[in-house]
Amino acid sequence: MKIIIDTDPGQDDAITFFLALASPEIELLGITTVAGNVTVSQTTENALKALDLIGRTDIPVHRGADRPLLAPGVTATHVHGQTGFEGAELPPPSRGATPGHAVDFLIETLMRHPPGDITICAIGPLTNLTLALAKEPALRTRIGRVVLMGGAFSEVGNITCAAEFNFYVDPHAAAMVCESGAPLTVIPLDVTHQLHTSAARLARFRTLGNRIGPIIADWLVFEKRFEANKYGTDGGPLHDPNTVMWLIRPDLYRGREVNLRVETQGALTLGASVVDWWGISGLAPNALFLREVDVEGVYETLFERLARL
Ligand code: BDR
Ligand code: CA
Repeated sequence: MKIIIDTDPGQDDAITFFLALASPEIELLGITTVAGNVTVSQTTENALKALDLIGRTDIPVHRGADRPLLAPGVTATHVHGQTGFEGAELPPPSRGATPGHAVDFLIETLMRHPPGDITICAIGPLTNLTLALAKEPALRTRIGRVVLMGGAFSEVGNITCAAEFNFYVDPHAAAMVCESGAPLTVIPLDVTHQLHTSAARLARFRTLGNRIGPIIADWLVFEKRFEANKYGTDGGPLHDPNTVMWLIRPDLYRGREVNLRVETQGALTLGASVVDWWGISGLAPNALFLREVDVEGVYETLFERLARL
């Protein structure tokens, strides 16, 4: 299965790359970066560093949008640290970004392949994807599926009382992706908040037996200290790797086809997910919205895959 990862690394974004590159079912065609957890210069540098770590300098990394469409731009350095990789800093990257803007890479790659061939794993704000859809409307029929981490139903919000971070940072882009007509799978906080990075699981990462194990453990100790404290849980949520996990093990998740919209005007609710879980609106479903997860299944698969690197 051919995928492109659109991302704002971020420790949990980098773990998503590792899972994809450890999985023979997946062919990673490239990485596109966006401003989100940290600035786009930093997310681009982080993507390059993460690929260096596992010797995959063959994967193109295209730098994308440096700000949301209309919203002022917000980072999550309080969660991920100033660099986005706090917890375990990596050496400077061995190369620069691949020439060409992320939006053009998305368009050229999707248009070169047969319709439906490529899945987009979107694990940051959705700015690049929206710009690509605006520049080349035919992408709607080219994208096989967008699998995104974002939004929430019963878990409501993590950056504001009403909104999840990726939707909040660029709410207009999130709304446009929901309305695009591209097949959509949504991994919301309802799923990710069940997957606690407990002390026992951190110990499993640390002893994976390869170079990345201790780095992943150190990253998660740092990234999750804030959320574990906020939620009072043993470890914090595991967000972005669920996108690739759903592609390789869809049997581990359950959800419902729903209509999903994103609030773009509310003073208190900007970026909120409006999920028609109960079929109240009469609007046609546009997303498979996941809410249940086999927690042990996800972690066992993650340990097994990452140990292959
Ligand atoms: C999302 O926000 C980011 O901080 C994480 O990388 C994830 O993509 C969770 O709300
Ligand atoms: Ca992310």
